[in-house]
Amino acid sequence: PEVISHTLANYLDFAAGRVKDFALPFDFATLDRLEVSACGTAFLAGSIGKYWLERYARLAVDIDVASEFRYREKPISKASAALFVSQSGETADTLAALRYCRAAGIPIASIVNVRQSTMARESDGIFPTLAGPEIGVASTKAFTCQLAVLAALSLRAARDRGHLPAEEEKRLVHELAETPRFANQVLKLDKQIEKLARDLAQVKHVLYLGRGTNYPLAMEGALKLKEISYIHAEGYAAGELKHGPIALIDEHMPVIVIAPYDRVFEKTVSNMQEVAARGGRIILITDKHGAEHATVKTMDTIVLPDMPELIAPM
Ligand code: F6R
Repeated sequence: PEVISHTLANYLDFAAGRVKDFALPFDFATLDRLEVSACGTAFLAGSIGKYWLERYARLAVDIDVASEFRYREKPISKASAALFVSQSGETADTLAALRYCRAAGIPIASIVNVRQSTMARESDGIFPTLAGPEIGVASTKAFTCQLAVLAALSLRAARDRGHLPAEEEKRLVHELAETPRFANQVLKLDKQIEKLARDLAQVKHVLYLGRGTNYPLAMEGALKLKEISYIHAEGYAAGELKHGPIALIDEHMPVIVIAPYDRVFEKTVSNMQEVAARGGRIILITDKHGAEHATVKTMDTIVLPDMPELIAPM
C-alpha cells in the first residue's frame, strides 16, 4: 500500500482531483496508436494498461511480448509512439524492442523502476514506478506500481485526447486515491489465503480465468504460481474456456476465477457454471456484491471489499 501510494502521488494531484501536468515525450492528442512492449509480468501489466488506454482514452494500443516484437519486422507508423514497461530497465528483449522503435524514429517512453537503467537512459521520457528495490525474483510490488502508473497515464491520455470531462477526472482520481486503503484491507485476508494455499499445494495443475482486465490478471496469477510454487498453471480468458481447455476440467484441477461484480460479471458466472457442470472445484475471487450474486457452488470464495472497477486489478 505504501509504494502504491507513493507512485500514485507522483502522477496525481489528489487535492485538486486532477492528473498532474508531467512532461510527456509525445502528445497523446495527436497519437494514432501506442506500441507497448515488455516481458513477463511487465507485459501483463501493459496488457491491463491496454484495456484502460483503449477504454478511457480511446487510444488504440498494440501490445507485444518484446521477444516477439523485436524479430517480427513490424511496420511502425510515424504517428505512433512506443511505451516499454520494465522493473529493472535492463531486460535484453525489451531493450532490443526499444532500439527497434528508436530506429523507426518514433518517440519512446518507459515505465521503469530503476531510474539509472539502460532503458531509462535510452528513452525520451520515463515514468518511474516508486516501488523501491524489488528484492525477490518475482515481480510483485513492482507489478502493482506499474499498474498504478498505467492507470494514471490512461487518465492523462483521456484528458489530453478530450475524452475526460473535469468532473469525471475528479471522480476517477479520487477512486485511485483509495487504492492503498483497499490494498490494506485485502492484505488482512492473509489467514484465509494461507489456508487455501495449503490445500492448493497438493494439486498438480491450476486454471485461472478472468474477463476484461481480469484476463491479463488471470495470466499473472498463473505466472506467479508457476514461478513460486512450481505448480503448472494456465491463465485463460473466461470466454475461451469452451474452446478447448474445458476438456481438462475435473475435480483434480482447481479453477481460480477472478470476478468482481463489474460489467462482465454475469458472463463470467456462466463460465463458472460450465466448470461446475464438469465437477470442477471453483475458487472465486470476488467482492461482496459478487459473492451475493454468484449462483454457483465454490470450494472457497475470497471476498474483497466492494471497490471501483478501475482500481480492482491493483
Ligand atoms: C515474474 C517476473 C518476470 C519479469 C520479467 C521482466 O514475476 O519477475 O516475468 O517481469 O522478467 O523483467 P523486467 O520488468 O525487469 O523487465
